Amino acid sequence: MVTNRTFTMLKPDAVEKGHVGAIIEKITASGFRIVAMKLTQMTTADAEEFYAIHKERPFFPDLVEYMTRGPIVAAILEKDNAVEDFRTLIGATNPAEAAEGTIRKLYAASIGENAVHGSDSDENAAIEGAFHFSGREMF
Ligand code: RTP
Ligand code: MG
Repeated sequence: MVTNRTFTMLKPDAVEKGHVGAIIEKITASGFRIVAMKLTQMTTADAEEFYAIHKERPFFPDLVEYMTRGPIVAAILEKDNAVEDFRTLIGATNPAEAAEGTIRKLYAASIGENAVHGSDSDENAAIEGAFHFSGREMF
């Protein structure tokens, strides 16, 4: 198990609003190395599988609609303690509760449209990275 990598998506709202450059700058300035990165768009089936853990939640249809409505930037990031440190960098799910200076505080509009995803465990980081990237796309 790789323990120094996490997976992120800059979500459709972040791409639509032109925040990709600023968010990537913040990520790399915070010590994360980019292992893999691409602009891509999830299909409905992709989003339903990616967020399957939430399929019984009331917000699930809105989440799938949101995550598929436009391109995302998917990336694998490397740093010591990557999963936990990246969750700290992005801030709370609800931007109203996110700490000052976090990516969600700066760029997220609401709990539903919150600019960025971060894996919640080493195991999920590996699963999510492999969902979006082949080994040949990781450096
Ligand atoms: P993510 O998985 O995207 O990094 O977000 P997270 O861990 O902070 O939050 P999670 O509980 O995993 O929720 C996944 C995504 O679903 C949307 N959501 N909407 N309307 C709502 O109450 C609500 N709650 C969650 C958000 O896009 C959230 O990031
Ligand atoms: Mg989550």
